[in-house]
Amino acid sequence: MKRSRRSKPFARLEWQGRRRPEHTPVTLELDTETYPQDAHHTTEFTGQLLTGDNLGVMTALLSEWEGKIDLIYLDPPFLTGKAYSARIGRGEDSRRPSEWRTVASYQDTWRDGAEYLDMLYPRLEIMHRLLSPSGTIYLHLDWHASAYARVLMDEIFGPARLLNEIVWVYHGPSPIRRAFKRKHDTILVYAKSKNYTFNADAVRVAYDPSTVKTFSSSPKAGFGKVPDLERGKVPEDWWYFPVVARLHKERTGYPTQKPEALMERIILASSNPGEIVADFFCGSGTTAIVAARLGRDWIACDSSPLAIHTTYRRLLLENLEAPFKIWRSEGGPTGGALKPQISVSQSGSQVHIDLKDIPSEEPPTVAFPQNLNFWEVDWDFDGNVFRSRSQAVRLWRDDEINLRMGHTYPHPGNHTLAVRVFDNRGITGITTQQITLPG
Ligand SMILES: C[S@@+](CC[C@H](N)C(=O)[O-])C[C@H]1O[C@@H](n2cnc3c(N)ncnc32)[C@H](O)[C@@H]1O
Repeated sequence: MKRSRRSKPFARLEWQGRRRPEHTPVTLELDTETYPQDAHHTTEFTGQLLTGDNLGVMTALLSEWEGKIDLIYLDPPFLTGKAYSARIGRGEDSRRPSEWRTVASYQDTWRDGAEYLDMLYPRLEIMHRLLSPSGTIYLHLDWHASAYARVLMDEIFGPARLLNEIVWVYHGPSPIRRAFKRKHDTILVYAKSKNYTFNADAVRVAYDPSTVKTFSSSPKAGFGKVPDLERGKVPEDWWYFPVVARLHKERTGYPTQKPEALMERIILASSNPGEIVADFFCGSGTTAIVAARLGRDWIACDSSPLAIHTTYRRLLLENLEAPFKIWRSEGGPTGGALKPQISVSQSGSQVHIDLKDIPSEEPPTVAFPQNLNFWEVDWDFDGNVFRSRSQAVRLWRDDEINLRMGHTYPHPGNHTLAVRVFDNRGITGITTQQITLPG
């Protein structure tokens, strides 16, 4: 049978309570401008990190970004019925679960599949609108919901726009005894139009040694095509990448974190440097990190504060040269329960801050500095947008974090400095202090 190129789907998914999706935008408020490593930045913002439910957030983005995003990757909840926790602190290195410290991160629990589809469908529709005419979307799911999502994607994008059904295979332990171990995810790839970006040369891989051997001895073998052994091949639609395991250097502790190598292949294949890559279920921020590393602009969103903090910490550890912005949804949390205690010392135009403790207004207060993940300073806080100019970040699974930061003010006079801290439960807090510099 010839592969169908029909643009109309031959089936439509019905579920209990299916209705026309309604979209209400949230108001996005600029929360933070972050200048990593202060001195090296350009003034061009290349990234946006958005906090809040992505339905309202994406609806709000339509006015500026409709038809402009070149690549969307989404790794939404999979309909697993589980509530996920993040592992925090050094205990996560232990083999004994009793030594793990955990904190709630996100829920993948639904009344039924219909409620799940009510969540997914309107979001896929908006993503279709946000994609540029040459844009591509990668929808990452597994056996729980992939079949249903395929029918929805055919409806929204058209069956002819399906580029690939990628199978990501991996291995690892499994409790399953009466069936084969479920060790693959499915990534549905759709293009917005026929003229989509696909950079085959950017993702070529070496041929299998057995292929190299065969063609080295007889270049004519195999369907009349001679492989270019030096250039390598475009990968098949099944990919093996190891999962991010417990002691993996990429590991953040955030659950269901995806490997950077997987994102790298997707971003290289389906976007170009300077284009915009978005992930509206960003979790620990893998897409944003890899996009930034590959010179793409990025947009990342998550409704979980812990996800946003993890992504932020990862971005800071990347030593990016360009600044980025953090937005909050109106009505979302603005401050935090932590009340950083600082001591400020001045010597002429030089100011130093020592971070002394991070007590919490809401118990429990956690041990300091073990539970401090990172902190940052705005040396001239305007009382509204936090302009992060200096940051101290703990490396993953590291005991060290710098507790002193300094700054030389170019101008005398009155200044308000602000210090913001983030602990490993995803809780934050801010303190401000007035200083006067002699003329
Ligand atoms: C499977 S995880 C993403 C993991 C990510 N790919 C990574 O590498 O870390 C799904 C994420 O979607 C977020 N999420 C779920 N529903 C959301 C919603 N309505 N709006 C924004 N984020 C949502 C969760 O908080 C969670 O962090």
